[in-house]
Amino acid sequence: MKTYKIALIKGDGIGPEIIDEAVKVLDAVASCCNIEFSYEEALMGGCAYDITGDPLPQETINISLNSDAVLFGAIGGQKWDNLPREKRPESGLLRFRKELGVYANLRPVVVYDELINASSLKPEVVKGVNLMVVRELIGGIYFGEPKGRDENRGWNTMVYTRDEIVRIAHQAFKIAMTRSKRVCSVDKANVLDVSQLWRDVVTEVSKEYPEIELSHMYVDNAAMQLIRDPKQFDVMLTGNIFGDILSDEASMLSGSIGLLPSASVGAKIGVYEPIHGSAPDIAGQGIANPIATIASASMMLRYALGENEAADKIDAAIKRALKEGYRTKDLAQFDAKEVCSTSEMGSIIANYAAK
Ligand code: IPM
Ligand code: MG
Repeated sequence: MKTYKIALIKGDGIGPEIIDEAVKVLDAVASCCNIEFSYEEALMGGCAYDITGDPLPQETINISLNSDAVLFGAIGGQKWDNLPREKRPESGLLRFRKELGVYANLRPVVVYDELINASSLKPEVVKGVNLMVVRELIGGIYFGEPKGRDENRGWNTMVYTRDEIVRIAHQAFKIAMTRSKRVCSVDKANVLDVSQLWRDVVTEVSKEYPEIELSHMYVDNAAMQLIRDPKQFDVMLTGNIFGDILSDEASMLSGSIGLLPSASVGAKIGVYEPIHGSAPDIAGQGIANPIATIASASMMLRYALGENEAADKIDAAIKRALKEGYRTKDLAQFDAKEVCSTSEMGSIIANYAAK
């Protein structure tokens, strides 16, 4: 039997509730796939600041680097919004991504047939959507220098180096080779010099993948096209801030941001997390949707551990729970047979996954 070491970072708000459900499901599939997990918890975000004075204690980095993968909940909340920037939960998360070197953030957007009515767009527009946003995660305007502010000016710098673009482009092309071999690179090359370099380098790298069909799109047009006709996209390759914005937009194709998982990968350990935030307004009420986190655990099995069978079981269990009409509160108006709590949804999926 194989044992995997998983670092658990529950974080703030609904983070602990949704991670607990993902662990329940992981343990359920473990027993039937001849694997087991040993978990080590680590602190990050507001809860880490409250206890240690630092949103990202060194111990959390050590525990993570010493694991096979990191399963992450969510961080942040109003309580910490007025702290100096480097003490804020979000700064801890950005530092964490940088320390782990997770430069590629993979955000799949799949519209479940069972939830075709949940999207704010027409069913015929979203039916069958299956795309992947490949977002560069440790460069761009989030990290560029100089940055700062004084009384009258605030400034950040959008910068990409050739090497940063090359490595994320390879990621996108490799993923596309396992899908429909189409990549749309999104930039703002009509205005930004950094985007012009991005476009040139992506085009160069694409020469190594002759089977790939590469297109380029300006980010404002891409935002519009995602709503007009999302099925035109397969892999969308983009930089840090454009990817942040487009992936939230794309999440609404599926009906709830509570459904979408993500994987952040690089040279070392990968981080698997829902794309939604810590939702402090609903924390502790047992109404959060755990599916995004459970689906992130499935991505972890597939990408970090190569346990495809276990991942397939989880994906099928999520689909089955939705098909049978189980819905958490965020999706209660959409063909619900039964509205269930966070932990009931976790148990239903765990139960199906164990079969
Ligand atoms: C995300 C989040 C983060 C980001 C925040 C919390 C720093 O919005 O993971 O998309 O902007 O990257
Ligand atoms: Mg975001």
